[in-house]
Amino acid sequence: MRSDTPVTIHLKDYLPPAYLVDQVDLNLDLHEDYARVESRLKVRRNPAFEGDERAFLLNGELLELESVRLDDAVLGVDAYRLDDTSLTIENPLEQFELETCVLIRPQENTALEGLYRSGGMFCTQCEAEGFRRITYFPDRPDVMARFSTTISADRKRYPVLLSNGNRVQEEELDQGRHRVRWEDPFPKPCYLFALVAGDLRFIQDSYTTISGREVDLRIYVEPENIEKCDHAVQSLKHAMAWDEQHYGREYDLDIYMIVAVNDFNMGAMENKGLNVFNSKFVLARPDSATDRDFQGIEGVIAHEYFHNWTGNRITCRDWFQLSLKEGLTVFRDQEFSADMGSRGVKRIEDVRLLRAHQFAEDAGPMAHPIRPDAYMEINNFYTVTVYEKGAEVVRMQHNLLGEADYRKATDLYFERHDGQAVTTEDFVRCMEDAGGRDLSQFKHWYSLAGTPELRVEADYDVAAQVYSLQVTQHCPDTRGQKSKPPFHIPLALGLLDEMGADIPLQLKGEVEPGGGTRLLELRQAVETFHFINVPSRPVPSLLRGLSAPVKIDSGYSDAELMFLMAHDNDDFNRWDAAQTLAQRIILQLLDAYRAGNKLEVPQGFIDAFHKALTDQQADKALLAEVLILPSESLLGDQMAEVDVDGIHIAREAVKRQLAVALKTSLLEVYHANTESGVYTIGSAAIARRSLKNVCLGYLMLLDEQAIRDLCMAQFEASHNMTDVMAALSGLTNTDSPERGAALAAFETRWRDDLLVMDKWFSVQALSRLPSTLDVVKRLMTHPAFSMQNPNKVRSLIGAFCSGNITSFHALDGSGYRFLSDRVLELDRLNPQVAARMMRIMARWRRYDEVRQTLMKREFQRVLATPDISRDLFEIASKSLEVK
Ligand code: TRP
Ligand code: ZN
Repeated sequence: MRSDTPVTIHLKDYLPPAYLVDQVDLNLDLHEDYARVESRLKVRRNPAFEGDERAFLLNGELLELESVRLDDAVLGVDAYRLDDTSLTIENPLEQFELETCVLIRPQENTALEGLYRSGGMFCTQCEAEGFRRITYFPDRPDVMARFSTTISADRKRYPVLLSNGNRVQEEELDQGRHRVRWEDPFPKPCYLFALVAGDLRFIQDSYTTISGREVDLRIYVEPENIEKCDHAVQSLKHAMAWDEQHYGREYDLDIYMIVAVNDFNMGAMENKGLNVFNSKFVLARPDSATDRDFQGIEGVIAHEYFHNWTGNRITCRDWFQLSLKEGLTVFRDQEFSADMGSRGVKRIEDVRLLRAHQFAEDAGPMAHPIRPDAYMEINNFYTVTVYEKGAEVVRMQHNLLGEADYRKATDLYFERHDGQAVTTEDFVRCMEDAGGRDLSQFKHWYSLAGTPELRVEADYDVAAQVYSLQVTQHCPDTRGQKSKPPFHIPLALGLLDEMGADIPLQLKGEVEPGGGTRLLELRQAVETFHFINVPSRPVPSLLRGLSAPVKIDSGYSDAELMFLMAHDNDDFNRWDAAQTLAQRIILQLLDAYRAGNKLEVPQGFIDAFHKALTDQQADKALLAEVLILPSESLLGDQMAEVDVDGIHIAREAVKRQLAVALKTSLLEVYHANTESGVYTIGSAAIARRSLKNVCLGYLMLLDEQAIRDLCMAQFEASHNMTDVMAALSGLTNTDSPERGAALAAFETRWRDDLLVMDKWFSVQALSRLPSTLDVVKRLMTHPAFSMQNPNKVRSLIGAFCSGNITSFHALDGSGYRFLSDRVLELDRLNPQVAARMMRIMARWRRYDEVRQTLMKREFQRVLATPDISRDLFEIASKSLEVK
């Protein structure tokens, strides 16, 4: 057991800081086995602070304090208090300067928070509370200071020394060392501090802002990766232009730097003027990166760039407000990507993620509102809820206000709060003020957890030509929140006539009909809407584009779903109808399987798929999405108790029967979309590849030599990584000689490329063959694998435990034991990543008794282990809490 229970921090206890820091002068001296950090802070009492606290508290962890000086006088040990996590100066003056000198050990830092080594370089990660591992400082986002950073290091090993802002000084020192000073003119919270030192190369480009200022753009990478930066820099320029156009936001420094590092806990970090990126989201070349990778890079580069305004210029008052910057920035990057590629497909991908992960989180023991009100470890709250549901909540406000008023509201937000650390309330107030709307009920979306559920009942009065929809909403109880009040929900809908065209919508009381899509606003638990002049019974298209992050029970018949799938003019809802239908069919087969009956896919469903597949007019990107069946985990979410094996069997049966029935068309579409010409990453080419590869996936289920040859040929052509991986994944699922040959060839070709080897690990971890767990265990001893590298952990262990449902949930508990063993091992190295992995089992109560007992035992074992991290303790203890 941990000897102590970690403290819970509550939003209601928030107090402004008693002291503010105006200026920070940092001096970092980097050596091979330690670093010395001197800091000089200009501090003054916060005029807005009303309490009578008279002590200045600085956070600090894992620091070896060498000296403290107050206004140039050395402080004796009785003039301050020191413990494991803080340094407190009692009764200082109204204004003073505080100097500290500490030693830290970046070389021993495997947690990847604070200053650490990755490969041959030094880098930092300070969000959320990593700065306190570099020096003593009031580590909270509402303390914003100007930073000046001086770095000195060996010149040969670390020719490049970077920090935030502008480089203002450089000098050579004795003993082959050199020193560089950086100044950031913008006050910032310390979580946005960054430093990088290494032997790096950079590619350089420039961007002229809308007002004509020239910005120097640089991407720093290890020398061997210099050829892989092109896409990243193009994405950056697109993002800069997009933000000027869509939000009126211009970049504010003369230089923008991005550094790619191999060891990184998350995707990337928006440090002012010096973003640090997981190299996965920078490096790409057609032969080494898939279309998804290219899109991921574009999205993450934009995300971090957009943070410059939504996060950096305007930051969070406290970490409970995390969604203020993350939800808004995710919404911004989603819209950017929609504009760069296929809008319909982007929305589908985002909703898939939301439903698969966020809805699941909201229905489990870790459920929390997008603005949580309590946490033990803030790192555990960088969640799909705060990010993805947070983005949906901004999206809803965008939709409620409409494009023009939303823009006025964000303009107001930037004008009113520039340079401040604010709350989600401040954000919503801008929406209210600029949109002239009362959003008080809407704010439940910030404070309440859980996914609201809508039930819709329709009634058509032929004589009166009135179509009525009665909508009931209900939100399930979640941790500490029972019997919730109704939400303010924007419900976009259309009504389709017999031909599938939108009927112009006219609500009772309106003099004229409006357009084909209407945004209804639900506010009550039960509400009825009457549409007049509806000539015949329509088919409703509900919640178009998923206009709110809710579940909906629309009561459609199979025939209505097929009708929507064929005709709805809303791309998203066409796809969604197909998904709902597929889900229904799979769950029906599951029932048949459990009843011992034959698993037979209804002909109507096969016909609907055939029709979609052979529609010459079809949008290829969307068609590919339609052909992908709902995932096993999403199907599990629809059941009272997840039937792991049944779902797998039923879903595979549907896939195989579709493959058998549609073989000719699948082959035709496959060949029709095989490229011969030059490779591009334009939307049309991406669409062709994804459609072709979805077809190949089905065809490979036929287990025919001719198809395997086709697949092997695609693999060997090595035209681009998208095609190579699609082929390799197909082959890895077969028990054939081609499997081993392809995996070996791939390894030989790519063994020196870390990022590509991640794909090789994942594809094997996800294999549907039995004994995959043994393969995974063996791969852990592969020279390219390392427990210290989060990408490796995620691509091998993470992929297996969260993506290989049947193997992970093996009835002997071997998967569960494997996960908790790895988590405990990892917790000593990197608590953040360990806690994230543990969440994979958080919803253990959803399974049968045998599995529940096995998983519960692993949680108990983890909790009984001495000195587990606060991160892991919070996840394990909350997962076990009695409901
Ligand atoms: N602010 C980062 C983003 O969303 C998230 C992030 C990067 C992060 N690294 C982290 C959060 C480490 C916690 C810990 O862009
Ligand atoms: Zn972010």
